[in-house]
Amino acid sequence: MMSSAPRVRLADNGPEFSRIVLGLWRLAEWNMSPQQRLAFLEQALDAGITTIDQADIYGDYQSETLLGEALRLSPTLRSRFQFVSKCGIKLLSANRPAHRIQHYDTSRSHIIASAERSLQAMGIDTLDLLLIHRPDPLMDADEMAEAFFRLRQSGKVKYFGVSNFTVSQFELLASRIPLVTNQVELSLLRMDALQDGSLDLCQRLRILPMIWSALGGGALVSEGQTSNPAVLRLRPVLQELSHQLNLPVASIALSWVLQHPSRPLVLTGSGRAQAIREAMLACSHRLSREHWFALWCAATGHGVP
Ligand SMILES: NC(=O)c1ccc[n+]([C@@H]2O[C@H](COP(=O)([O-])OP(=O)(O)OC[C@H]3O[C@@H](n4cnc5c(N)ncnc54)[C@H](OP(=O)(O)O)[C@@H]3O)[C@@H](O)[C@H]2O)c1
Repeated sequence: MMSSAPRVRLADNGPEFSRIVLGLWRLAEWNMSPQQRLAFLEQALDAGITTIDQADIYGDYQSETLLGEALRLSPTLRSRFQFVSKCGIKLLSANRPAHRIQHYDTSRSHIIASAERSLQAMGIDTLDLLLIHRPDPLMDADEMAEAFFRLRQSGKVKYFGVSNFTVSQFELLASRIPLVTNQVELSLLRMDALQDGSLDLCQRLRILPMIWSALGGGALVSEGQTSNPAVLRLRPVLQELSHQLNLPVASIALSWVLQHPSRPLVLTGSGRAQAIREAMLACSHRLSREHWFALWCAATGHGVP
């Protein structure tokens, strides 16, 4: 029996999401039939995961369509999920032959067209949250705010946020339109967000960050050969804690992220039900400060000053 993922509100008057979010970046790699995709979505719902993270570009522009195929098999299913998508990156792809160079586009027309295309691909009427995927050196806050207002007015998007934004980029856009999250990378292998102010800003504004690659894209749980010194230092500590606490290594690595005081949501990147169970376990366990810092020390390779 799986425990239910806790639910959290991203901001005052913001959307309520499951604390563990189903990340579908890798969906196309899982080679699932539409029926298998549907079964996986149902398993996620049974576990209490109701929020799905997508982007127009995932799976070389195919992931949203693959999700849409599965949702169409069970018409009542979509009403049980909250949908997050992203826009603003233009990839070189056979699926977008007009693109001549990989670049960013945060123009009003691209934001609106991309959101509409995401809705169509997934077969849904409304995105609960639309994120600007990466900061664009040419972003014009007034123009982006206008796109957001139009999408909100037409009922196509309920809330807006950003991803991978610095504090000043966040503050610039937030001066025009309420933003409910910054989706950033954080793991024992990537701790920049602890130092660059992005999580401090979330605490200050009382908005919750969403965390991607919380397992270092799998590197923290892989048992294969590696020359990454941080992974080599972390492995024995994670194993020892796993033994002591009777928890899987993945749950310990995710707990380490989840208990940051900014109260982050964590995106899982796996297509396996077992991985969902391990993420659930992470929600119901709290590491002691000593254990949290033992992992921090192994990750950084030194003690605290
Ligand atoms: N905003 C952004 O710029 C951005 C960037 C990257 C990702 N994202 C989002 O974040 C989500 C998660 O990123 P990620 O896929 O890099 O996350 P991750 O959880 O760090 O890595 C997932 C990888 O770890 C492997 N893995 C092995 N054991 C696992 C376990 N117990 N639990 C989970 N994964 C396990 C998975 O393989 P198996 O499938 O074999 O388990 C998968 O290949 C993406 O799906 C996407 O929605 C956002």
